[in-house]
Amino acid sequence: MSKIKFVFVGVFVIASGLLLILWLMPNPINPPVQRQLAWDSPQTKQLWDRACNDCHSNTTYWPIYAKLPIVSNIIVDHVNEGRKEFNISVPTRKSANNLSNEIEKEILKNKMPLTDYTWLHPAARLSDAEKKALIDGMKITLQNSR
Ligand code: HEC
Repeated sequence: MSKIKFVFVGVFVIASGLLLILWLMPNPINPPVQRQLAWDSPQTKQLWDRACNDCHSNTTYWPIYAKLPIVSNIIVDHVNEGRKEFNISVPTRKSANNLSNEIEKEILKNKMPLTDYTWLHPAARLSDAEKKALIDGMKITLQNSR
């Protein structure tokens, strides 16, 4: 085997080993879901899932890179802070009206979803029409949910 091939195989083996370790590490545990929203339409749920669900619910999808040191701290902090702010998976005392208004404000000011999230999740970028559909849909959904 030539030297260059040897190096190539070595790098491949080490990279595979690291990936395997990441894959074997457990994801952060999602707390139990205690509340289901009464979605007004599949479209609202789909937009919500694309743009907001990972940080404002207990059904977060954890990507494999969320297990990397440092990166993992940033992501877990975002999710914990987002959940603290509001979490659709737990009962809330906030009125549906107040929450819908906050959601509308954050989306229209382009503060939500967070930009470092949309950078890694291009699907979370919403067009103006999608923003409006999500805002309107969440108003009805939160109104209909207990
Ligand atoms: C990457 C994680 C993340 C995503 C995705 C995300 N949020 Fe947030 N959200 C946060 C964090 C962290 C906070 C608290 C800090 C802040 O306000 O910046 C927050 C705060 C909020 C607040 C309260 C703001 C306030 O100051 O009262 C609302 C409302 C909100 N988010 C709505 C949304 C909506 C709607 C979406 C989807 C369009 C969304 N968020 C997507 C992390 C996220």
